[in-house]
Amino acid sequence: MIQTILITGASSGIGKALAFEMSNRGYAIGLTARRIEELEKIRDEIKKERSSAIVAIRKLDVTDYNDVPIAVNSIVEELNGFDIAFVNAGIGLGEEVGKGQFEKSRCTIETNLIGAIATIDAATNYFLERGRGHIVGVASVAAFRGLPRSASYSASKAGMSVYLEALRAETYGRNIDVTVLYPGFIDTPLNDMLKSRPFLISVEKGAAIIAGLIEKKVKSSTVPVFPWNIVGRLLKILPTSIIAKM
Ligand SMILES: NC(=O)c1ccc[n+]([C@@H]2O[C@H](COP(=O)([O-])OP(=O)(O)OC[C@H]3O[C@@H](n4cnc5c(N)ncnc54)[C@H](OP(=O)(O)O)[C@@H]3O)[C@@H](O)[C@H]2O)c1
Repeated sequence: MIQTILITGASSGIGKALAFEMSNRGYAIGLTARRIEELEKIRDEIKKERSSAIVAIRKLDVTDYNDVPIAVNSIVEELNGFDIAFVNAGIGLGEEVGKGQFEKSRCTIETNLIGAIATIDAATNYFLERGRGHIVGVASVAAFRGLPRSASYSASKAGMSVYLEALRAETYGRNIDVTVLYPGFIDTPLNDMLKSRPFLISVEKGAAIIAGLIEKKVKSSTVPVFPWNIVGRLLKILPTSIIAKM
């Protein structure tokens, strides 16, 4: 039986690389993002490599909250359902608090948190009706500690992480798996302007690690697991004087 994965934010970076990775692993894939022309290119490239690959694409802005269940249902119709929802669409604008940059903060929370909640809600609604499913949320190591110049980003990822924890408890015993991923630095357009990207890994490597974690149905994990499993714990306990220098 072919497994199917829905990927939001599939036009670039982690979502795009995971689309190739999962398709190569034999999954049918449903891809969404705002840039439909990028999704068309990805679909065409995948189909060129393997004509039997199953790829559905839909234009979706996750901040058009009413459109989210419509896009999810249309992927359900075209692919005859899906097994995994990879909730990945996100932005990292960076802002300083109190410097007139509230719009960036609002946009970050609307995309990374409320857009993710809209996606999780629509996918869970489908999984509850169907009696099984797997939600995978892409948080960040920034969820472990509020980081300077990333207040709304850290808050959005911490919010998503706690939301998914609640979902896991709420759907306990109902055949719905919930995975929260905490990537460190994966080489994508989201962070390629940053001066420092410790323990950076390629997006292909990141996607391969993520695919493995999805297939193992882990409850939560950093990406890659090491060294971020250790660094993540450290982030939580480091004094503010050190965090302030980051
Ligand atoms: N790269 C890292 O090191 C890293 C680390 C931790 C967490 N993450 C998380 O991983 C996820 C993917 O990031 P990435 O690094 O792959 O960045 P990316 O290359 O910039 O990709 C972001 C994806 O999100 C989509 N997106 C953004 N806003 C959207 C919206 N309003 N509606 C629908 N789709 C939207 C973009 O597609 P369109 O522009 O076409 O809509 C794009 O496909 C994000 O949630 C990010 O926070 C990344």
